Amino acid sequence: MSKLRTETVTDVHHWNDSLFTIKTTRDDGLRFRNGEFAMIGILVDGRPLLRAYSIASPNYEDHLEFFSIKVQDGPLTSRLQHIKVGDELLVSKKPTGTLVLDDLLPGKNLYMLATGTGLAPFLALSRDPEVYERFDKIVLVHGVRNVEDLAYREMFENELPNDEIFGDWYKEKFVYYPTTTREEFRNMGRITDLMESGKLFEDVGLPQMNKDDDRVMICGSMPFNADVSRILDGFGLTVSPRMGVQADYVIERAFVG
Ligand code: A2P
Repeated sequence: MSKLRTETVTDVHHWNDSLFTIKTTRDDGLRFRNGEFAMIGILVDGRPLLRAYSIASPNYEDHLEFFSIKVQDGPLTSRLQHIKVGDELLVSKKPTGTLVLDDLLPGKNLYMLATGTGLAPFLALSRDPEVYERFDKIVLVHGVRNVEDLAYREMFENELPNDEIFGDWYKEKFVYYPTTTREEFRNMGRITDLMESGKLFEDVGLPQMNKDDDRVMICGSMPFNADVSRILDGFGLTVSPRMGVQADYVIERAFVG
């Protein structure tokens, strides 16, 4: 039996020259936890070319959404960036992943730390009621090079605060903290530097991260994940070693290519 289903593209949004979002239909049988990824792709010379993509839409929506970088010589994204409404997208039947609430111990504050398209799993988690039930404060930090790379900024700044279901919760608990490294903006600097200097905690009005209160999810490039992990270890937090084991923080790499 095939591990893949064929969905139909219903919308494509190009944020800029290097970022885009694909929406597709969703099979009724697809089950996933917010934060998980699926293998997605297209047929090339009759064979599936697949990469892991976090599912950006929450699991109660009837569509699927994927947030992607465009890599000009990337085997998949060089092709995927030309996908159009009505085209087919292959999606694996069994999403999986480590960026799930189940693998975090109870805590007061949830930090979601992302660079670039590592934002994707947090797009689903930001709209997961369980996140708001389990944590007093949710801090989403999105680190990018330029202001135009702050995809979904409008959703965090204007849509979610006014959302019928999440609006009140969101305004009470959620802090959206975008930061740039190569262009002037209200917050600047690498997430790692902002953590080490303490500026991030000052800006969001919380004490330095600690094992008693804070839980963290990390999704970015390999070096980013490794550097943040080292800082969190220094703060005394422990990482979930594998799926199904609860700890203070969980880690996933952003899948590009
Ligand atoms: P910088 O501009 O200083 O490289 P990219 O577009 O290369 O994926 O990077 C996205 C964002 O992540 C950029 O702001 C980049 O900062 C930052 N970044 C890249 N590597 C690291 C790292 N190891 N630790 C912290 N931030 C990083």
